[in-house]
Amino acid sequence: MTIIDGKVISAQVKAELKIEVDKIIAVGGSVPHLAAVLIGDNGASESYVASKIKSCEQIGFKSTLVRRDASATEAEVLEIIDELNKDEDINGFIVQLPLPVHINVDKIIEAIDPKKDVDGFHPINIGRMAKGLPAYVSATPYGVLELMKRYDIETSGKHCVVVGRSQIVGLPMSILMQRNAYPGNCTVTLTHSRTQNLKEITLQADILVVALGRPEFITADMVKPGAVVIDVGLTRVEDASKKRGFALKGDVKFDEVSEKASFITPVPGGVGLMTVASLMYNTLLASKGEIY
Ligand code: GUN
Repeated sequence: MTIIDGKVISAQVKAELKIEVDKIIAVGGSVPHLAAVLIGDNGASESYVASKIKSCEQIGFKSTLVRRDASATEAEVLEIIDELNKDEDINGFIVQLPLPVHINVDKIIEAIDPKKDVDGFHPINIGRMAKGLPAYVSATPYGVLELMKRYDIETSGKHCVVVGRSQIVGLPMSILMQRNAYPGNCTVTLTHSRTQNLKEITLQADILVVALGRPEFITADMVKPGAVVIDVGLTRVEDASKKRGFALKGDVKFDEVSEKASFITPVPGGVGLMTVASLMYNTLLASKGEIY
């Protein structure tokens, strides 16, 4: 069994990006610039955004953080987006989710210029990705593909079962894994909270991608021996013994499932770190105009 090391691979991706930035600087080009919009004070969102800004600094990208408190109105957020869309110095930006409930997330995402949508959440990017056209691919699924590539995981003809149909992970993951490309060419089953006999289906998975947000939901009896198990879950669970008062838990019961899997991602130290690395990659593509 091989533990897929997201820490090592994300550091590799970021080191490669830094080399690209150094080349841009050497020829007097303009350095990629990412902006992040953070509304409210959700603890997990704060730490994700902080890690995105820190990664920009490590790689040599410019970054801008736009913060408003949770009482910001939808109109105010739309105004911020309009300014970022027009700002010629900013190559790409993200609006960290979730947003406060009084803000319509679809309206916000559709207001982002698809050319600057480095999260790949805009319907135009999702549609282009589904058609196999150049598009920003949302960062977490893209990070999973990168892990599969760098560990030479065979995907062609395999049965990939995705658990969870979220717009930002499960749905794009299922589309990407069926494409005629590597990683891809899988037979894909997309399962969700209404799926009947889930265990019968997960037991057929050669590649099991779990993105449900339910800590330790996948147990060893649900996994086929030799399966590749990708755990996208990242939930904060109260734990007084930890310095920050919580532990990060994945959707897979790692200790028992790792005994059956051929490859498995740990939490933390797996997919989560790749999300940030992929966002950085998309920002570089945006600055070079390589998608649009
Ligand atoms: N919330 C959870 N994951 C993500 C992500 O990848 N991007 C944004 N913008 N918000 C998120």
